[in-house]
Amino acid sequence: MTLLTVRRDGEIAVVTLDNPPVNAISEAVRKGLYDLAERLDEDPEVRAVVLVCAGRTFLAGADVREFGQPPVEPHLPDVVDRIEAAEKPWVAAIHGAALGGGFEIAMGCRFRVAVESARVGLPEVTLGVIPGASGTVRTPRLAGVEAAVELVTSGKPLAAAKALDAGLIDAVVSGDLETAAVEFARASLAAEMPLPVSKRPLQPMPDDFWQAARKAAARAGHKAPLRALDSIRFATETSFAAAMAHERETFLDLRASDEAAALRHVFFAERAAPKPAALKGIDPRPVKLVGVIGGGTMGAGIAGACREAGMEIILIERDAEAVARGLDNVAKIFDGAVKRGKLTEKGRAERMAGVRGSTDYADLAQADLVIEAVFEEIGVKRAVFAELGRVCRPDAVLATNTSYLDPRAIAEGLPNPERFIGLHFFSPAHIMKLLEIVPTPETAPEVLATGFALARALNKMPVQAGICEGFIGNRILKRYRAEAEVLVTQGVAISEIDAAMRGYGFRMGPFEAQDLGGLDIAFLQREGARAEGQHVPETLGDILVRAGRKGQKTGGGWYDYAEGDRAALPSPQVAELLAARIVDARELPRPEIAAHLVAAMAAEGAAILEEGIAQRPEDIDLVEVHGYGFPRWKGGPMFASRG
Ligand code: COA
Ligand code: NAD
Repeated sequence: MTLLTVRRDGEIAVVTLDNPPVNAISEAVRKGLYDLAERLDEDPEVRAVVLVCAGRTFLAGADVREFGQPPVEPHLPDVVDRIEAAEKPWVAAIHGAALGGGFEIAMGCRFRVAVESARVGLPEVTLGVIPGASGTVRTPRLAGVEAAVELVTSGKPLAAAKALDAGLIDAVVSGDLETAAVEFARASLAAEMPLPVSKRPLQPMPDDFWQAARKAAARAGHKAPLRALDSIRFATETSFAAAMAHERETFLDLRASDEAAALRHVFFAERAAPKPAALKGIDPRPVKLVGVIGGGTMGAGIAGACREAGMEIILIERDAEAVARGLDNVAKIFDGAVKRGKLTEKGRAERMAGVRGSTDYADLAQADLVIEAVFEEIGVKRAVFAELGRVCRPDAVLATNTSYLDPRAIAEGLPNPERFIGLHFFSPAHIMKLLEIVPTPETAPEVLATGFALARALNKMPVQAGICEGFIGNRILKRYRAEAEVLVTQGVAISEIDAAMRGYGFRMGPFEAQDLGGLDIAFLQREGARAEGQHVPETLGDILVRAGRKGQKTGGGWYDYAEGDRAALPSPQVAELLAARIVDARELPRPEIAAHLVAAMAAEGAAILEEGIAQRPEDIDLVEVHGYGFPRWKGGPMFASRG
């Protein structure tokens, strides 16, 4: 394989970069492009250059693997400058994604053309850095300050049509990209050349613009978006050269930060999780027709998610009334998508036409996959699987969405038990990214592979978990909440604990989150265990539920709430109810509270690893980041607590 090849199409040189899998900008790519810009300038027969990439994408950005190492020359800003300074205009021909350094190289080119399916963006803040090769300096010159602020501080890429509207690219082309780009280059030679991006004028913005942008970009503890904003502002108030020096300095500073290391850790964990080595070469079973048992909160969400991915759905409920309610729950999901402008009325009708309700299990005879989401009661679930064992094809994958029950007990007596698996979705199931995949000792490898393939189809993050109460996520949640209650008994204020976790980067602290979700679910589960004779000590939450405080839905839980208001108010009644259990009057600074609770999560995670419930610490981190609101830029509890 040759990294860079050059062919001639008349007076146009076509440079093709081929650095699989995503044309990441490694040291060799930087050096190769720099040298080519020199060489093509010297070639009298070349009048313009088209830069195009082989494979699935344009340059997808800096090689993230090099981020942890010392920078090596030529640096990317010099490569971008060199391309921009070329005497022959360069045209970036974009397909797939032009991200980060890839888009910065495109900005060094005199023109940018893209196919309709392409995306461009500067996702550096999602890796804890800011663009390091003029993204904060050239973008405002290319597309205006507002567009630059949005692109850089959000890190979200734009589709080609929107990028064209924003002025980030010059044309959206159809047909063969290379041919179109060569034509574009040839036509441009006959017209007046635009200024190189670095020479274009800039519109400084008033102070209140920056203040509003700051507010919009701020997220607790996440430094990169604000540093990116500062860098753009600086670029609007100083010379190109000074802005470049400032950007580079900020980039190098952030690159070495804990936040960037954490985000790189999550980046690679996310890419490794969907393809476990143990499943290499194992084909999943095809899934086109999905049965969902139970059309409540979870069943409807699961049905909606599978339908959105193009599968046909049969929703089974207990009686006609429940069927109607279940279908209505699914319809609400698509109504929501219509309201948010994500789905047309026609699309909604088409989605619902593929969801059929029934009370008759016999309708599942041809289902490829059935996911059970009925009440969390072992007797009810077993009865469901007894029916499924009778009516389903022996090769149909049968899954339970149980949160806490032992899947082995649910599947007891099921014929062909190798087709059984736990698929633990999170609420709301059509939105939450995490999917815990829980094989039993009997689950066949291709059934496990089907779980992973389903996650891919549903655009979810799969993590394999072993069997224990609560699997990975809910088990850590339980420990986290218990440890937070311990702090309360030591006299730390409930509101201080919530504020500490928000300060750490969670959207909500442990107590306000319980008030929102309801304290009764965990309470009932504990009561169930007690009824079975297990020793479950009384929690502070139990005391509140017994006093009728189940959370916001009852007007109060850990906090009081004024009618129709979600603002959490410290509760004198709670103070009174818990007084006998509070043994100390400890005051802890918020960062120490957060460190203590994160360490508790990590300790539970370590036990989970030791027991083989999770396979890798990264998996635990993904569970927390994608299922429990752990701030991504802290990397997850295992990463955050590494020695
Ligand atoms: N540097 C190093 N490796 C990278 C990379 C990068 N910037 N981007 C992707 N990869 C690797 C992945 O780790 C994966 O490796 P593996 O096959 O060994 O697991 C492989 O390339 C394919 O990536 P994947 O994300 O699975 O491919 P995709 O086709 O689904 O998506 C992209 C392609 C380019 C959209 C996606 O990879 C992406 O968003 N990359 C990040 C780009 C980025 O943030 N750039 C800015 C850096 S400052
Ligand atoms: P839910 O009460 O909202 O829905 C359960 C539905 O199952 C009801 O509509 C009920 O009519 C139906 N049902 C009960 N018995 C049935 C039967 N024999 N045949 C057909 N339908 C039947 O409950 P939910 O919150 O959707 O939870 C369902 C499952 O998902 C439980 O096992 C729960 O532990 C698990 N779970 C829940 C959450 C969550 O946050 N709610 C998250 C993950 C997993």
